[in-house]
Amino acid sequence: MSLTPEDLEDFARLDCSGTQVLLTGSTSGIGRAGALALGRLGADVIVHGRDADAGARVVEELEASGAEARFLAADFADSEALWDLAATVRAATDGLDVLINNAGGVFPEAQFTDRDVEYTFQVNHLAPYLLTAELLDHLRPGARIVTTASEAHRLTSLDIDRVTRATNPRGGRRSRLASALPTTGIGSLTRAQWAYSHSKLANVLFAKELADRLAAAERAVVSNSVHPGAIPGTGFARSLPEPLSRVVNSLDALPGTSSVADGAAALLFAALAPRTAGVSGRYFAGREPTLPSAAARDPEAARRLWERSAALLGIDEPLAEYG
Ligand SMILES: NC(=O)c1ccc[n+]([C@@H]2O[C@H](COP(=O)([O-])OP(=O)(O)OC[C@H]3O[C@@H](n4cnc5c(N)ncnc54)[C@H](OP(=O)(O)O)[C@@H]3O)[C@@H](O)[C@H]2O)c1
Repeated sequence: MSLTPEDLEDFARLDCSGTQVLLTGSTSGIGRAGALALGRLGADVIVHGRDADAGARVVEELEASGAEARFLAADFADSEALWDLAATVRAATDGLDVLINNAGGVFPEAQFTDRDVEYTFQVNHLAPYLLTAELLDHLRPGARIVTTASEAHRLTSLDIDRVTRATNPRGGRRSRLASALPTTGIGSLTRAQWAYSHSKLANVLFAKELADRLAAAERAVVSNSVHPGAIPGTGFARSLPEPLSRVVNSLDALPGTSSVADGAAALLFAALAPRTAGVSGRYFAGREPTLPSAAARDPEAARRLWERSAALLGIDEPLAEYG
């Protein structure tokens, strides 16, 4: 039987009363399991996703365990919704102790957003970048930011031009991502896999650059990224095309995969465990601090990603003077 996060020694005596948490992507999968565990540990939880019914069910379960909870909907493909989400969080709380940037997935049908940014890059990277930027001043001293990354980040290097639509000098618009690969069948899978890996690389680079800038700004806030494990039992596999979805779902039986509770424990380990207090700029594979890929340790790539992300969103660079 799989253990729940609070069964682990790290959380055994942890009392999170008064701890305010925003956990994005908590209507399903590891985010949902993490939110419920946070509630059982005594934290107040803001549940987020797009699915209002699923969100209401998580809030109901949290309230039944005695936690304070509310659901806020925001589609991460829509930057306006992110600004609204941040404003609502600021109005609803007097500060956050934990921000877990967890919402995301693989999007095989994904194309470009109205900002001419590839959908996966927008949802998995630009959205948490924007949300974090908007909430930086709302984080209490000692706050922790956790960004859910993936070992898939190792499959590629940073190529922002490939996920933005460049103007074609002969008229119209094109992108190397859109034009280089077919859009259906195995081709779309390959494209989706690349877009996913690239967005997860962005997550690792972002978390590290954020940690460095927060340290330079002498803010008592830490930032880390986490690979939660390969977890077949979440909604993650549902977004894959058949027959891959069925194959991935059947991986539960194979060694080397993790349970949903394990994945939630990995998030909570970075977000709350006394053992990781003060740790910043690290990448955790499960609960193990791990060296990310060389591409994820490239400071020039991290800086470029930081600057281009702000430009793509049309915002001032957060912590610009500390880069
Ligand atoms: N499962 C794995 O093997 C695995 C491995 C490595 C990393 N991860 C990462 O773990 C995180 C959680 O995934 P999971 O496995 O728990 O999958 P999941 O069950 O599909 O959960 C994904 C969550 O993200 C939200 N989400 C997806 N697209 C969104 C959008 N456009 N706007 C707002 N919210 C959105 C979903 O909410 P709604 O459905 O309500 O919109 C849901 O709450 C992801 O970042 C994923 O990349 C998973």
